[in-house]
Amino acid sequence: MTVPAMTAPAAPQMRRVDLEPQFRAYEDEILAAVRRVLGSGRYTLADEGAAFEAAFAEYLGVPAFVGVGDGTRAISMVLRLLGLGPGDEVLTVPFTAFPTIAAILDIGAEPVFADIDPDSYLMTPDTMAAALTARTRAVVPVHIFGNVADVAGLQARLVGLGREDVALVEDAAQAHGSRRNGALAGSLADFATFSFYPTKNLGGYGDGGGIACRDPEAAARLRRLRNYGFVDKDTVTEVGINSRLDELQAAILAVKLRHLDAMNARRRVLAALYAATLPALGFALQAIPREVETNWHVFEPRTAPETRDRLAAACAAEGIQTNVYYAVPHHLQPALAHLGYRPGDLPGVEAVCAGGLALPLYPELPEADVHRVIEILRRHAE
Ligand SMILES: Cc1ncc(COP(=O)(O)O)c(C=O)c1O
Repeated sequence: MTVPAMTAPAAPQMRRVDLEPQFRAYEDEILAAVRRVLGSGRYTLADEGAAFEAAFAEYLGVPAFVGVGDGTRAISMVLRLLGLGPGDEVLTVPFTAFPTIAAILDIGAEPVFADIDPDSYLMTPDTMAAALTARTRAVVPVHIFGNVADVAGLQARLVGLGREDVALVEDAAQAHGSRRNGALAGSLADFATFSFYPTKNLGGYGDGGGIACRDPEAAARLRRLRNYGFVDKDTVTEVGINSRLDELQAAILAVKLRHLDAMNARRRVLAALYAATLPALGFALQAIPREVETNWHVFEPRTAPETRDRLAAACAAEGIQTNVYYAVPHHLQPALAHLGYRPGDLPGVEAVCAGGLALPLYPELPEADVHRVIEILRRHAE
């Protein structure tokens, strides 16, 4: 008699980012905030939004923070505030979430791409300078995965090139709580934009975003622009849009802001476990400059492309979710064919896209899970 083979129980699925444990960790505080908002009868542009804006401005050490509907609109609103539109070039990197680019196209400007340094994954003063043209009106460095671009260095290079006319806008959507030389990402330029999409280090339970700015006048104008352009309840002097951070998201974000530094510290502990072993398995870690304290929004080391694909498949077979940021280098996206970029144009970007593998990392991830990922990578590394 043959005994039917037992099917092994499916390995528990380990997500690259699991949002539920964070809700459980702060459930009482979050539900109290949600009840307070729902019971207030005021759901947009009221006390919770104002309180969160003040708290986040204070956290960043900037004069003003303006909540808006999402991180994409945050970028396009700043570019519009700067007076940019058709005929203008905005220089950024394609190694970013696609919305950085969509926001530039949204205002009718043309995205122009600088390469990244394949070690830090960041725009550098040299890669920026190589892509700058007479039509460049703004540069948008992206603090990718939480590593912080050298904004002061970019500014100094612009000055050195006699291009003080070019605005610098930090895309800090992935860099809540990251620092460079002690200063928080989002406080390094005149304008910085944030996303509070649920997976961000400071994330709500829906869409949200905002703009840090040094100039209170600019903040006041952004506050009008996000609300159709009303200067008071009856009068519009400049037509705006509808892009508001709602009261529910603001109240939830205010709760999570109190825990942001602790959550980021936990990410650093877990990242250190990976960092201690992965180089011996043939991975190059994202290089974090000595002056940067990253928030490890994404932990994506890089290896040879064929190894990457094999390890990603091995993880999937063991029930472990990984991801590739960004599987299609955005300068080669079909939708951007009209920009005329070709494979090989941006070797730094293409190298990281070909070899990067984002591994599970979020504050509540048990250390045992990190060890399990490492063990699987070790087994399949040869
Ligand atoms: C670097 C970067 N910029 C912009 C955005 C856009 O933010 P949102 O999804 O809130 O529109 C995101 C998030 O997706 C991002 O990661």
